[in-house]
Amino acid sequence: MYQLWIHPNEKKSKIHKEIYGHFSEHLGRCIYEGIYVGEDSSIPNEKGMRKDVVEALKELEVPVLRWPGGCFADEYHWKDGIGEKSKRKRMVNTHWGGVVEDNSFGTHEFFELCDQIGAQPYINGNLGSGTVQEMSEWVEYMTFDGVSPMADLRAKNGRKEPWKVKFFGVGNENWGCGGSMTPEYYANEYRRYQTYCRNYGENKLYKIACGPSEGDYHWMEELMKSAGRFMDGISLHYYTVPDTWPKKGPATGFDKDTWYRTLKKTLHMEELLTKHGAIMDQYDPDKRIGLIVDEWGTWFDVEEGTNPGFLYQQNTMRDALVAGINLNLFNKHSDRVRMANIAQLVNVLQAVILTEGERMIKTPTYYVFKMFKKHMEAELLHSHLVTEEIGTEDWRVPHVTESASMDAQGNITITLNNLSADEPCQVEVHLNERAIGEAEGEILTSQFTDFNTFEHPDTVKPEQYTDYEIRDGKLVLNIPASSVLCVTLKS
Ligand code: AHR
Repeated sequence: MYQLWIHPNEKKSKIHKEIYGHFSEHLGRCIYEGIYVGEDSSIPNEKGMRKDVVEALKELEVPVLRWPGGCFADEYHWKDGIGEKSKRKRMVNTHWGGVVEDNSFGTHEFFELCDQIGAQPYINGNLGSGTVQEMSEWVEYMTFDGVSPMADLRAKNGRKEPWKVKFFGVGNENWGCGGSMTPEYYANEYRRYQTYCRNYGENKLYKIACGPSEGDYHWMEELMKSAGRFMDGISLHYYTVPDTWPKKGPATGFDKDTWYRTLKKTLHMEELLTKHGAIMDQYDPDKRIGLIVDEWGTWFDVEEGTNPGFLYQQNTMRDALVAGINLNLFNKHSDRVRMANIAQLVNVLQAVILTEGERMIKTPTYYVFKMFKKHMEAELLHSHLVTEEIGTEDWRVPHVTESASMDAQGNITITLNNLSADEPCQVEVHLNERAIGEAEGEILTSQFTDFNTFEHPDTVKPEQYTDYEIRDGKLVLNIPASSVLCVTLKS
């Protein structure tokens, strides 16, 4: 039996709700079909947004949504996506499948979506191929309250009131698809572009610089050194890819070795957060600047017969574990991780929702987000787990990972992942200085390769968790193999 010690009197940091954020790019069937079908569609919609998807996202209480990319952001010219729809410019989405982008989903539609699901917008500006003026004017268009060229244009397009925009990204992956820049060059560009992203009236931007890919510590060092004082956040991108890029491995039908290899690669996030965090500490010991993990999740080979540029993949219990592991890690590093955005919302990479025509399914990852939402805005508690390593000879992982938090009412939420494909386990929870009273929980568990399909949408879904007992003042949890568990101890 493993031992988990939780210290209710040792609150470590606030778990900002934005850690449970999402990302939606003009990529494949994420925006078009997945979210936006247009007002004339036979699919039930409200102002063009699919009602089923909006309902599902409302249940998740999506705190923040990043848009329009991704790589697309640095090719996106926002003025093409405003005004009369039939007159909007069409372009080729060169990054993602070479399809025609008709710009029918633009700034106004994005804010409408955010309103419908109750999320804060996170806008990613174009530094790679756009101008300083273009970026500056977008901020003015969205947030200026009064008489100005851009505010007038906004009003002409039907929106008198400015929107509230807090999170604003100044470029995306500018070391790669966003302009192939060196960190030294980007740091200067960042300083220049961000200067003209103004705070109008009450609107205060939280400016996010493009950070490193994975373990590029030089990029982090250079950005923090040269541009740290001009930013509020810096991004980090890390995807779980089981195979060696560009081979990624299939989303379904994998063996146990691949299961453990995938989870091991996911756990690498811990090292990235620690090492990038340590560099940030040198330049920002007060932790003013947030680490924004605005792209994370699994990246597999696309489903057979689908456009390779659309990044459409299935989502199994393995994805559920990847989500559970990462979210626990973000909680544990919430002194520095201010936001995280899984890639991507619908039909792309590790999506929480998949659609096919009129049909929609919730993936195992969806349910993990739903179960973990109790951590939002709670205080991370100091916790310590003693567990064993399991796995195959080549790929060793901890049997269990966890995090614990306390909400404003004093309720304690513990989320645990059993990383074993086939071994259940027991965890004994000790709550220092506090009696264990009433407990309630939910569990997501299934065979390690299981997933939901349009024909069988409920193969993987959470159930009420009852397999625990309170023994000598301790909580003993029986946790099945391949599972994600959320237990709340009432105050
Ligand atoms: O999420 C898919 C792509 O991955 C994004 O567009 C890009 O930023 C990253 O390389």
